Amino acid sequence: MSDTQKPVLKGQRALVTGASSGIGAAIAKALAAAGAKVVVNYAGGADRAHAMVEKIRAAGGEAMAIRADVSREDEVEAMFAEMIEAWGSVDILVNNAGLQKDAPLVEMSLADWQRVIDINLTGQFLCSRAAVREFLRRGVVPELSHVAGKIICISSVHDVIPWAGHVNYATSKGGVSMMMKTMAQELAPQRIRVNAISPGAIKTPINTAAWMTPEAEAELLKLIPARRVGEPDDIARATVWLASDDSDYVTGATLYVDGGMTLYPGFDQGG
Ligand code: BGC
Repeated sequence: MSDTQKPVLKGQRALVTGASSGIGAAIAKALAAAGAKVVVNYAGGADRAHAMVEKIRAAGGEAMAIRADVSREDEVEAMFAEMIEAWGSVDILVNNAGLQKDAPLVEMSLADWQRVIDINLTGQFLCSRAAVREFLRRGVVPELSHVAGKIICISSVHDVIPWAGHVNYATSKGGVSMMMKTMAQELAPQRIRVNAISPGAIKTPINTAAWMTPEAEAELLKLIPARRVGEPDDIARATVWLASDDSDYVTGATLYVDGGMTLYPGFDQGG
């Protein structure tokens, strides 16, 4: 039995944004396998979200799908209200929903700048605020966890690596990093832990073009000292750990799960 299968989250209630595909789907499955009830949030593609819920149930877990655009305050509030009504509270928030709308700076529209900031950064703010209000209302339930709540922000290696042609995305992730640390500092005395995971290149629909063909994958691997493209489960396992009391003394941390992408791979020779 791997660590992700131990019921370290038994009885806890988790909400994963953008959980109908990619990294979010793997996280939702892993949290459920670790004993949590999981809200599979989605914005579009209801079919995929409901299929995820069925998959989790078929594996013996508990889940429900809730639609909400994380950048809309009213929809976020309604989603949390629905979850709390159904399951009593929320113990774990995984801020995962994110998108890319790439263009060189001079061609980037204000709409594409704004949409990426709205989903990737403001969405994490709105969901965190709603979760924290509930954590503070409920307080610590010792049978469930040592703390009143846990937030895991899914960031990116591009919270430290500048990325030409992706100024909106890199800026949003830089913002996530500082938002996460500020929330962690503010909320630690109230026994709320806030951390981030910064994935490197992971095989998901967001970056298919970067690894789909052998040529593209060979180019990508030059940027990854571990010489493999990551899998969504690499991120899911780290998320379960950060959500559990096993990481009880960890707050305000960013875990780079990137095969070494942030290690300046260009310097593996020379310099
Ligand atoms: C991006 C991917 C990219 C990876 C590494 C992620 O945050 O969403 O498209 O492959 O960073 O550059």
